Amino acid sequence: MVQPYKHEPFTDFKVEENRQAYLTGLKTVESYLGQNYDLVIDGERISTEDKIVSYNPANKTEVIGTVSKASQDLAEKAMQAAVEAFKSWKKVKPEVRADVLFKAAAIIRRRKHEFSALLTKEAGKPWNEADADTAEAIDFLEYYARQMLRIKDGVEVNSRPNEYNRYNYIPLGVGIIISPWNFPLAIMAGTTVAAIVAGNTVLLKPASTTPVVAAKFVEVMEEAGLPKGVLNFVPGSGAEVGDYLVDHKDTRFISFTGSRDVGLRIFDRASKVNEGQIWMKRLIAEMGGKDTIVVDKEADLELAATAIVTSAFGFSGQKCSACSRAVIVEDVYDQVLNRVVELTNELTQGDPTDQSNYMATVIDQSAYDKVMSYIEIGKQEGKLMTGGEGDDSKGYFIKPTVFADLTPDSRIMKEEIFGPVVGFTKAKDFDHAIEIANDTEYGLTGAVITTNRANMEKAREDFHVGNLYFNRGCTGAIVGYQPFGGFNMSGTDSKAGGPDYILLHMQAKTTSEMY
Ligand code: NAD
Ligand code: ALA
Repeated sequence: MVQPYKHEPFTDFKVEENRQAYLTGLKTVESYLGQNYDLVIDGERISTEDKIVSYNPANKTEVIGTVSKASQDLAEKAMQAAVEAFKSWKKVKPEVRADVLFKAAAIIRRRKHEFSALLTKEAGKPWNEADADTAEAIDFLEYYARQMLRIKDGVEVNSRPNEYNRYNYIPLGVGIIISPWNFPLAIMAGTTVAAIVAGNTVLLKPASTTPVVAAKFVEVMEEAGLPKGVLNFVPGSGAEVGDYLVDHKDTRFISFTGSRDVGLRIFDRASKVNEGQIWMKRLIAEMGGKDTIVVDKEADLELAATAIVTSAFGFSGQKCSACSRAVIVEDVYDQVLNRVVELTNELTQGDPTDQSNYMATVIDQSAYDKVMSYIEIGKQEGKLMTGGEGDDSKGYFIKPTVFADLTPDSRIMKEEIFGPVVGFTKAKDFDHAIEIANDTEYGLTGAVITTNRANMEKAREDFHVGNLYFNRGCTGAIVGYQPFGGFNMSGTDSKAGGPDYILLHMQAKTTSEMY
């Protein structure tokens, strides 16, 4: 009997034993820094001349590892392996497929702090953020395995006398999994295993800034008993390998998480029917956000300030769910803004391996340059209240930055910056605040801080985001508790970690027998 699902608890690092466990994990990671990782195609390790080098964003000369880089020829080889493996994997019982996920969850749980320390080193995640990423990966494994068991026998439909109708879900085929660097373990693992447990075979193309944690995850899946060819590991250039695989006639579906622009490019390319292709490709695309916290005049203002600061600056604002806009009803605007500035000035920043640092870096030079250029725009558009400085001499550090008095249509309030920058704007009243919050092409997360029940209900109906939170921040959805995904240009609203997610990787088949 499978135990009911419960999310993986977060680690309390105030407990000395837990602190030591993380430091031991860090030592393990340090012992394998700089190693080389191969492609994995049909279970075979393939080394290439051309490599992706993964660096520590907090210490940019430190190499985390080098990873072989797939060419189009190798991507083709991986595709053929996946096509072949699908013939047998689709017939493996759902219970057996689920068992692979349960075992993988157990392996990662045993090596939890090692994985978290690797996230610290490769993605610049401070301890708590890394711990949450690892916990979420475990949750996806545990939750999707159970979801597959729930739907394995299909859904009841009606039958007339002398007729037996059945409605079952079957897998789709070969999927391309394209993942981002900001949840390099959780999202990469979650999107991969949802496809696999449904009976599909996949090619995994991780983000090029965080390929080592993906290579380690592939090893875990092998150890958990996944047959060869089911999960093929093909790191490579998005433009070269990504386009090739998206276009491929044998690609049945694409599961993409990343930016709006790349998502739209995939949407466009995937809609073309290529020679020999006998289906319309399915696309699951989870994209960017411009997420807002609205503060009402009747509200716990200390809670509001804390929610804004943690949602804006946790992992340096590099979450699709991060608060990048604070829309405050004018009666309490100054109070909330001043308190946010005070709290921001108390944040600690530095090397993420040091437990005392709340914040570290952005991911790489191009992210650093992009965020710094937005800070220059912010200085023109609004009033810089704190932050506004960066230092990329050793790593990509940018101070948490608050801009005030922006107009709702300013670029800081409209475009996804994906860094530690939050913009404030004033609303005349609550209705106006919701209007400003909705005035974006995105629709991922949002939060409302209010004690006014009527306003809460108004927001529940009118605030158009996939994940809406009341009296808390707008980040930190938990698998199986707050299914996650957005509207409009935030993607296809697939709701990762939700009860319908596995079905997106399957198709329903009706059979009808006459007696
Ligand atoms: P990105 O779009 O630059 O890259 C995502 C992935 O797409 C990477 O693996 C990249 O190599 C690949 N890629 C690039 N070009 C490609 C192409 N032509 N064909 C196929 N694949 C290609 O995004 P990123 O910088 O890694 O991640 C940050 C973005 O992801 C932000 O916009 C963030 O909001 C979004 N995000 C969304 C969610 C969500 O659930 N909605 C979650 C995490 C991140
Ligand atoms: N699922 C992540 C969050 O909710 C992105 O913050």
